[in-house]
Amino acid sequence: MTLPEGVQYRDFGGEMALSTQGSAVYGEPVIDGWRQWNPHRSKLGAMFEKGVDTGIAGDDTVLYLGAANGTTVSHVADFAGPVYAIEFSPRPAKDLVDVAETRSNVFPLLKDARKPDTYSHIVEANLDTIIQDVATRGQAQVANENRKFLKNNGQLILAVKARSEDVTGDPETVFASVKRELEEEYEILSTQRLEPYHSDHLAVIATPK
Ligand SMILES: C[S@@+](CC[C@H](N)C(=O)[O-])C[C@H]1O[C@@H](n2cnc3c(N)ncnc32)[C@H](O)[C@@H]1O
Repeated sequence: MTLPEGVQYRDFGGEMALSTQGSAVYGEPVIDGWRQWNPHRSKLGAMFEKGVDTGIAGDDTVLYLGAANGTTVSHVADFAGPVYAIEFSPRPAKDLVDVAETRSNVFPLLKDARKPDTYSHIVEANLDTIIQDVATRGQAQVANENRKFLKNNGQLILAVKARSEDVTGDPETVFASVKRELEEEYEILSTQRLEPYHSDHLAVIATPK
């Protein structure tokens, strides 16, 4: 697995840690302009730590579904091209707007990822990458409905939270069902559990069918 250009392991006080280059956002350590990227706070960071080949490259155009307060969005924006960041909850979206003020390539959108038609006039077509971390019921459906924004050989980088689909169900059963539904629109390239960083989460890397 190679990290995208603009993501590096660097020395943070004797500990080698993932990092991107930019201004601090959430109180993370910054050394020589490089910000430490905590995989416990970021599914994408955890994917890199676990060696997942996400397919994302520096300068990719990105649709980010479930942006929250912009923690991971800020790191993605440090190495990628435009990042269209969708978040439907007004509280975290306020912090996301602050992130956009320090990064001109972040476009925060207070929108529901289940209703892509409400932002299809803003988000550009033929995107390289969709990153999804919505942690709500219907995660496969959200990915399927947003597939139209991806170019044919683009990639979906999805973090599936089992407990959001079924609080008491066996995570492996939930993941199997999510994968089956995703296969309506995508070819699944790889999957990886995200322990110990995020329990009962599955990373899914997929490309449009
Ligand atoms: C686990 S958090 C995301 C954390 C974020 N990806 C990060 O690493 O910084 C999930 C977020 O998805 C948002 N969300 C859930 N369902 C959504 C939907 N249908 N549309 C937009 N945002 C949604 C929630 O409000 C929450 O902020």
